[in-house]
Amino acid sequence: MFSRQKSLVGLDIGNDEVKVVELTRTSEGLELTGFGWGKIPSPEETLDTVKAVLRESGIRCRKVATSVSGRSVVVRYITLPNLDDDELQETLRLEADKYIPFDRDEVSIDGQKIESHSEDDAASDEMKSILVAVKKDLLQDHIDQVQELGLVPTVVDVDTFALGNSFDLRTEAGVQDEDSDKAVALVDIGATKTNIHIVRGKTSCFSREIYLGGKDLTDAIARREHLDEAEAEDLKCDPQGNEQMVANAVQPILDEIAGEIQLSFDYFENQFDFPVEEVFLSGGASQTVGLQETFERVFERDVKTWDPLAMIKVREDLVDVEALQEHLVQLPVALGLGSRIQDCV
Ligand SMILES: Nc1ncnc2c1ncn2[C@@H]1O[C@H](COP(=O)(O)OP(=O)(O)OP(=O)(O)O)[C@@H](O)[C@H]1O
Ligand SMILES: [Mg+2]
Repeated sequence: MFSRQKSLVGLDIGNDEVKVVELTRTSEGLELTGFGWGKIPSPEETLDTVKAVLRESGIRCRKVATSVSGRSVVVRYITLPNLDDDELQETLRLEADKYIPFDRDEVSIDGQKIESHSEDDAASDEMKSILVAVKKDLLQDHIDQVQELGLVPTVVDVDTFALGNSFDLRTEAGVQDEDSDKAVALVDIGATKTNIHIVRGKTSCFSREIYLGGKDLTDAIARREHLDEAEAEDLKCDPQGNEQMVANAVQPILDEIAGEIQLSFDYFENQFDFPVEEVFLSGGASQTVGLQETFERVFERDVKTWDPLAMIKVREDLVDVEALQEHLVQLPVALGLGSRIQDCV
């Protein structure tokens, strides 16, 4: 009983910023007992940035949950005959080639049954499952990196599921309103990619990564205004009266991102015959001038931000609350990773 793990670090090494949290399980629920963040000046400086962020955060716990993402990670939603857990793993091991664009030997495979929503589904002799395939070399490099940081890799998740886990906490907190069965889309817009995860209650229904994000918005400003990247980045994040100039420069990219997301909504709604009712934004680039308005216009549905700390008590004696609030929109993935402490015994 005394060996039960109480804290877990959620470490989100993004393409632009490192976000780290420490979550601690107490008898009253989850507490945020550590927080840190830092901008990564160049890809070569990633590890040094993470080291500095960890040091400055004062986080002592070494057990960490991290995530992978990108083109070497494939997530598929598949239908199979009803199987128990062992049979599911065995079937995925034997039949993965049918579903993924990689050679079976190149990837680590995991799968999980999706709990059915309707009684018809529950009575069916088929089940839905999520298949996750990650290129082994990416996974090994990632684990090596974590160990090089002096951390103990405890969970390796996928960005999109960490985002879903963070949103689940909100659902548990009862913040989710009347109809917990409705489909909502979580959309996280980072520096290099936009993650879409459609969920119904706590059930994952669809996910996709689009390789467009804040960096493309910065590049668009740099091109149009003949600025270097650093100047364009500053202008994008803090327009200081130049909102219209920024809005004009980023509009074509915002339209492109919104168009891609809308395609995913159309696909989901055709496939499931169920509407996506609301969109919940996160990720640093979701703060871009004109983004929310563009999404509302294109999607014709509510587009909102959300509080990933709704279910978590912040230990104000241990974290820099001002910095935390400033980076809140970027934190769902790290918090979703840290929330895996609930699965750890
Ligand atoms: N106030 C702001 N307005 C607009 N964009 C912002 C603002 N603050 C940060 N950004 C952008 O958000 C991005 C970083 O956000 P985030 O930390 O979510 O990305 P990341 O996780 O590092 O990237 P990825 O998920 O693609 O790996 C950068 O592109 C940055 O320019
Ligand atoms: Mg990210």
